[in-house]
Amino acid sequence: RTVYVNGTWLPEDQATVSIFDRGFLMADGVYEVTSVLDGKLIDFDGHIVRLHRSLNELDMQAPCSDAELLDMHRELVRLNGIDQGMIYLQVTRGNPGDRSFVFPDESVKPTIVAFTQNIPNLADAPAAKTGFKVISIPDIRWGRRDIKTVQLLYPSMGKMMAKKAGVDDSWFTEDGHVTEGTSNNAYIVKGNRIITRQLTSDILHGITRAAVLRFAAEAQFEIEERPFTVAEAQAADEAFSTAASIFVMPVVEIDGQPVGTGKPGPVATRLRELYLDEMR
Ligand code: PDD
Repeated sequence: RTVYVNGTWLPEDQATVSIFDRGFLMADGVYEVTSVLDGKLIDFDGHIVRLHRSLNELDMQAPCSDAELLDMHRELVRLNGIDQGMIYLQVTRGNPGDRSFVFPDESVKPTIVAFTQNIPNLADAPAAKTGFKVISIPDIRWGRRDIKTVQLLYPSMGKMMAKKAGVDDSWFTEDGHVTEGTSNNAYIVKGNRIITRQLTSDILHGITRAAVLRFAAEAQFEIEERPFTVAEAQAADEAFSTAASIFVMPVVEIDGQPVGTGKPGPVATRLRELYLDEMR
C-alpha cells in the first residue's frame, strides 16, 4: 500500500511516526473511517464535519484544509486502486519531543496519517445475509464517547469477548440500557417504529446513523430516539447496527436469544438496500 503521513506519500513499510507522538503515548488523537464503494467516498462531508467536532472538543488544530483532506482521500483511493474498502484517517496532537501531561503549544503540529483497507466485498458482505449475533457487556468507556478518539482498548476487548463467546459483536449497556455496539450504533424495530438512543455524550454520533434515519423517515418509518434495554431488544421485531464499515447490519441474536425470527428482518434489509442505493 501507499500511505499518507504528514503531507507525504510513502510505501507502508517506510512510513514512521515518532515514539513521542501523543497518539502513541496518550491516545491523544481522533480518527475517521470513510467507506469507499465503486471507487467513490461515501458521505465524506459528514465525516469531515465530525472530524472538526472531535478536534474542537479536544482543542486540537486541524492538520490541513478540508479541500486537502478530500484530495488526499481521493488520491489514496486512486494510488491503491480501491474499488471497495475503507480509508482510515488519524489526527493526533503530534510530537512534543518528550512525554508530558500538558498539551504542547501551537508550534507542535498535529500528526496526520491515512491509509486504505481493500475490502472487495464490502457492499455484499456475507455477514449481512446472516446477520450479527451479539452479547451485551457493561459499558465502562469514558464519558465522552461522542468524540471519536483513538482510545479503542475497551471496544477492542469487547470484540474479543464477543469472539470468545462465538458471536460477532458486543453491545454495551449502561444503567440497564444499550448505549451502542463496539464500533457501531444500535437500533431495534417494533412494527413501523425504529428505536435508537438519542445523541448525547453517551454515544458516537454516527454518520451512517444520520443518513439511515433520514432515509427511514422518508420511507415513512417512525423514529423514536430513546434508550432501550437488552430485554426490550430481545423482544423486538428486529434489531440492527450501523457504521461506515458495515452500513446497516441486521442483529439476529442478543445474549443467546433470537430477535424476531432469528433471521435478518425486512426492515433492516430494506434500510440496508435504501442506504446503499442512495449513497452509492
Ligand atoms: N466506528 N459507534 C462507535 C463506538 C463507533 O466506533 C462507530 C464507527 C460508530 C458508527 O459511526 P459511523 O456511522 O460514523 O461509522 C458508532 C468505525 C467504523 C471504526 O471504528 O472502525
